[in-house]
Amino acid sequence: MLTIAVPREIAAQEKRVSATPETVKKMASKGLQVKVQSGAGEGSFISDAAFQQAGALLEKDVKSLYGSADIVLKVQEPMVSEVQFLKEGAVILSFFQPLSNPDLVKSLAAKKISSFSMELVPRITRAQSMDALSSMATVAGYKAVLLAANESPKLFPLLMTAAGMVRPAKVFIIGAGVAGLQAIATAKRLGAVVRAFDTRPVVAEQVKSLGAEFVSLGVELKQEEAHDKGGYAKELSADVHQKEQAMLQKEVTQADIVITTALIPGKRAPILITKEMVSGMHAGSVVVDLAAPQGGNCEGTKPGEKAISNNGVIILGYLNLPSLMPVDSSQMYARNLLNFLFNFYRDGKIEMRMEDEIIQGALVTHQGEIVQKAIREKLQIA
Ligand code: NAI
Repeated sequence: MLTIAVPREIAAQEKRVSATPETVKKMASKGLQVKVQSGAGEGSFISDAAFQQAGALLEKDVKSLYGSADIVLKVQEPMVSEVQFLKEGAVILSFFQPLSNPDLVKSLAAKKISSFSMELVPRITRAQSMDALSSMATVAGYKAVLLAANESPKLFPLLMTAAGMVRPAKVFIIGAGVAGLQAIATAKRLGAVVRAFDTRPVVAEQVKSLGAEFVSLGVELKQEEAHDKGGYAKELSADVHQKEQAMLQKEVTQADIVITTALIPGKRAPILITKEMVSGMHAGSVVVDLAAPQGGNCEGTKPGEKAISNNGVIILGYLNLPSLMPVDSSQMYARNLLNFLFNFYRDGKIEMRMEDEIIQGALVTHQGEIVQKAIREKLQIA
């Protein structure tokens, strides 16, 4: 019988957990023994007793937990020191950020661990139920709007009151991927007037269908200029970037709330809101920079912090919004992990089908090798 380990997350302010009683039950029903570290669910309001009732064994000692595991499920990457506790040849699933963690990747390879990085799961139809990036972006987009509404000195909806009319808040959203679309939907539900922009013209219809206005750049961007074959945005040419800057200058200075989500995979997030634009915004307006973990879309963002500009603009650069909604984040993430696990665990055995696009996309280290060429190149390993 193979053993699954669910450690308590130790990263600062990480409240999520990689399994829930629901996923524990499903793993147990497929013949897996599940061991959960005592207190692992505390941040997500899941008691040790709830895990036990679902069929998990509790383990107090983290060393024995890792040491007995065939498969480890985690949210945040393990520390290099924790990798030493693992059995040689064990499997681990987590968000690894392999390009930013060369020492960790090398230690996983040295220990012959098969490591899967959940942010590398390909965005193909078959892998949709394993798409942890989309799950977490959905939560982050929702929470960004609530944080903005909480900081804003203005009401969001239009109100007709005995004291007269209250104008609705104006929300501008930059980047209409998974997080941006959820932010649009949430801001609309709260009654704001919402405008949005994305460099990928294909999302204009989705923005409109949520009741927001899609801001035009005034130039027709061809599909191949806007995104790669995988549907991810590309860096803009200098000319188009300049046009975007001119448009943003106008949009952000008119907005009460700006939510930025723009990312280019593998690169630092593009700076879209300059200091000059922030200085043109009115006091009490709010910027929530969801790209803060990748360096931020706003020049005034202080990653991990709430900053206030000289002219009174509140800029939130919080780094882990999904952890602020741990109940649903954990539930979604645990289900994504479960679906990923059942793609390679069948009939009581681990079956690494190397020809499977999902395995190929997400596997970082295997049998002592760093398997992804892009990661080897970036880490300068021949
Ligand atoms: P992301 O988090 O990488 O980027 C967020 C958004 O920022 C994107 O929409 C991107 O176009 C936009 N952006 C980049 N540079 C910008 C700029 N200078 N100005 C304005 N916006 C800018 O994107 P996410 O949410 O991860 O989605 C990426 C792609 O993957 C999308 O095409 C999405 O539809 C697709 N996708 C496919 C799935 C599937 O088929 N299973 C699941 C989820 C996403």
